[in-house]
Amino acid sequence: MSKGYVIAGCSFQAGQTVPVEQDGQIKLPPETGQSAGNAGAVDALCIKTKNGLQIIPRVVDVKKLYLEATTMCNFACTTCIRNSWRDDLAHMEWPVFERIADDLGRLPQLEYVHFGGFGEPFSHPRLLDMLETVKSKGLRAEVITNGSLLTAGIINKLVDLKLDMLFVSLDGPDEEEYCHIRQGADFHGVLNNIKQLNEIKTQRGVRHPELGIEFVATKDNFHKLPRLARLAHELKARRVIVTNVLPYNEEMKDQILYDMDDTVPLFSNDSVLLMVQAHLPHMKLRTERYCKFVEDKAMVVNHKGFVAPCYALMHSYNCYIYGRAKEMYPFYLGNVKEKSLDQIWIDPAYINFRLTVNNFQFPSCTDCKFLDGCSYVDNNDADCWGNSPSCAECLWSRQLIVCP
Ligand SMILES: C[S@@+](CC[C@H](N)C(=O)[O-])C[C@H]1O[C@@H](n2cnc3c(N)ncnc32)[C@H](O)[C@@H]1O
Ligand code: SF4
Ligand code: SF4
Ligand code: SF4
Repeated sequence: MSKGYVIAGCSFQAGQTVPVEQDGQIKLPPETGQSAGNAGAVDALCIKTKNGLQIIPRVVDVKKLYLEATTMCNFACTTCIRNSWRDDLAHMEWPVFERIADDLGRLPQLEYVHFGGFGEPFSHPRLLDMLETVKSKGLRAEVITNGSLLTAGIINKLVDLKLDMLFVSLDGPDEEEYCHIRQGADFHGVLNNIKQLNEIKTQRGVRHPELGIEFVATKDNFHKLPRLARLAHELKARRVIVTNVLPYNEEMKDQILYDMDDTVPLFSNDSVLLMVQAHLPHMKLRTERYCKFVEDKAMVVNHKGFVAPCYALMHSYNCYIYGRAKEMYPFYLGNVKEKSLDQIWIDPAYINFRLTVNNFQFPSCTDCKFLDGCSYVDNNDADCWGNSPSCAECLWSRQLIVCP
């Protein structure tokens, strides 16, 4: 099916006819209305494209919400965006979370709330209340954490409230690699917390929260990946997510591994990864592009309540794309303090943006022959096709950078 016909939860089969009356009235296929679910009638947006007019039903079909509970953290990892950004360090204020919680019921297709972003979620004093609120609405809840603040009391509470998934970041299977990135962190402390999680789950006879491990691959730690996979298996992890590093500072820019041949198995003969569900990044730039955030119908809310389409566009920061410095500006579609999440999702600007990304109507700077002389690439403000912001150098869309 052509991507051009699948938008906002409604699909027009290529070749399907749609009757247009003489007065211009269009009779759309029944699924157009049905896609609104219990919401009743939906209006539609008419967009002029180079191939003609496109009708896009404004359906609130968000499936996943990423929430940044805080930008504060008790670690200072060398890889972290927090080293390079210009945003403030603060917890999400409770009234902001309450606005989000009130809006959850207005997102009829919502399945998950993932507590992540750029900060340590467990440093928010009311994270457990947030999780309880989300779970009480029958949604799946996940958290990604550095694992350092998991006490027995917190773990028991996570079991009580039936947290579905807990990702712990482990950038190495041993103290040396781990502490090289996670400076000042206590490797054995984090490992013991994970073991304690497993003990409590066994004692209480439960399988949740399931454990996931995230590993950021750099030149320094990559050779330890097979051992990390083994450790993840010993720790009974259900999932391992390996991502490439996005350098946020000059010192990190030579740590990228994106030019490896990923047709060569990353784990040589190591079969441990067959036992856990592993998500590996691409290791080379490919023509194919895919935006997980837009495809998964996800929206991201930062600690101040601003809604962004993805992690890449939720803060202002500097990064290095293949060694070249780039300034990144955020792209906000609204703030939950002023507008509800469903209204933000069906705002024409957001629908248009998702359409552009879904159809990949933006150029590819990363392999453009004019790259060296082009000043568009200094930041993500615009590109030569007239997009603003530009996704043309996004490494998430190349699946080099991945996240849960
Ligand atoms: C920013 S942290 C926030 C959650 C929590 N503080 C933690 O460390 O898990 C989310 C994930 O991003 C990863 N990460 C940090 N710096 C990164 C980088 N430069 N490129 C790719 N991922 C990175 C972390 O290792 C972690 O797995
Ligand atoms: S623990 Fe997470 S948020 Fe904190 S500095 Fe490390 S990567 Fe960044
Ligand atoms: S913005 Fe510049 S580098 Fe990117 S595709 Fe256009 S000309 Fe090439
Ligand atoms: S392509 Fe990249 S920058 Fe654009 S919406 Fe997706 S993740 Fe964000």
